[in-house]
Amino acid sequence: MKNKILVTGGAGYIGSHTCIALHEAGYDIVVYDNLSNSSKEAINRVSTLIGQPIEFVKGDIRDAESLKQVFSAHQFFGVIHFAGLKAVGESVAKPLLYYNNNVSGTITLLEVMASHGVKNLIFSSSATVYGDPETLPIDEKSKRSCTNPYGQSKLTVEHILEDLAVSDASWSLIALRYFNPVGAHPSGQIGEDPNDIPNNLMPYISQVAVGKLDKLNIFGNDYPTVDGTGVRDFIHVTDLAQGHVAALNYLEGQSHSEKNSVEKKPSIGFLPINLGSGKGTSVLELVSAFTVITGKNIPYQFADRRAGDIASCYASADKAKALLEWEAKLSISDVCQDTWRWQSMNPQGYNIS
Ligand code: NAD
Ligand code: UD1
Repeated sequence: MKNKILVTGGAGYIGSHTCIALHEAGYDIVVYDNLSNSSKEAINRVSTLIGQPIEFVKGDIRDAESLKQVFSAHQFFGVIHFAGLKAVGESVAKPLLYYNNNVSGTITLLEVMASHGVKNLIFSSSATVYGDPETLPIDEKSKRSCTNPYGQSKLTVEHILEDLAVSDASWSLIALRYFNPVGAHPSGQIGEDPNDIPNNLMPYISQVAVGKLDKLNIFGNDYPTVDGTGVRDFIHVTDLAQGHVAALNYLEGQSHSEKNSVEKKPSIGFLPINLGSGKGTSVLELVSAFTVITGKNIPYQFADRRAGDIASCYASADKAKALLEWEAKLSISDVCQDTWRWQSMNPQGYNIS
């Protein structure tokens, strides 16, 4: 058995897929989640898929006492920290909630980690920290700026991690900047299950396909892109999950090229890494791919641009390849196929009453 990892937010969309990848890679995991945006059913299904119960603690990252109990009960190598709120619109309406949950919560987690001598962290950051990029593809040295409280909360945590690394060289802190996570586990058992009407494109398309929504509104067809619609870097969630395993291997000093080395690498300080496919796909291209793969027609209409949206955003994924030996393997076709399998097998998501 490899090291033991605490997975905060492990019941959520990306966390649940990563739990499977971690288990398959031999890690022992404990999930810590307050279920504020997820369902215990996700944990049940992950347990079924891996063929053994997952150790799950219902708790909040802002609750230091609860975290201390978990850290006292286990010897963790490190933490993969997914727990956070992620709806941009809600963050504009409730900024204090977002700063409290995402920033204060992370500070509490870091304090408890420090007091238990656990100094390895993989943090869920976002391409949103790049704001409107000056050049494409976006590499990790690009300027960072954010325009909404959600993005600010991610950027603030990155600054905190940078300061922490400067203050104490024994921390190893990787910020994985995800581009647009999409898709679902190939089993169709776990996937993205948004509350209410989805804000993001892929779940919106799949809910139109399954008949829960009438038609897609495409926000803007006058962007300076291949067909006037927004361009994004869609990354399959199982590729993303593997990116976390690769980051963990790197933290452990066990990346592929050094498998036989017993020497532990020194702490790495603060290390930001993009996780994206490196390819841009437009909204219309995604809609068309979904129709070709699933045979489902997606009625759509063009609407005004959405406030805060940018024209194009895609990653340079070179750093992940060079350092983590990771790159995205799955295609837009895989994304569409797996999303549709999940959506059609679970039209009500995890709500299986
Ligand atoms: P998600 O909402 O499905 O998962 C987040 C999980 O964290 C949920 O299970 C939720 O219940 C839990 N959580 C929230 N606040 C908590 C708290 N205070 N204490 C304990 N648990 C808490 O979201 P996701 O899509 O899986 O995203 C995971 C992380 O990745 C988030 O931090 C998100 O901001 C970040 N991220 C997501 C995307 C995306 O498009 N999905 C893109 C970039 C970054
Ligand atoms: C959004 C967030 C970003 C967050 C990311 C992942 C905004 C402004 N940005 O990114 O901070 O990190 O989600 O959670 O909310 N689209 C439509 N119709 C829809 C939905 C989306 O046309 O119903 C278009 C958008 O205009 C965009 C593209 O699809 O061009 C992708 O949108 P979305 O999935 O929401 O992701 P982002 O905007 O990239």
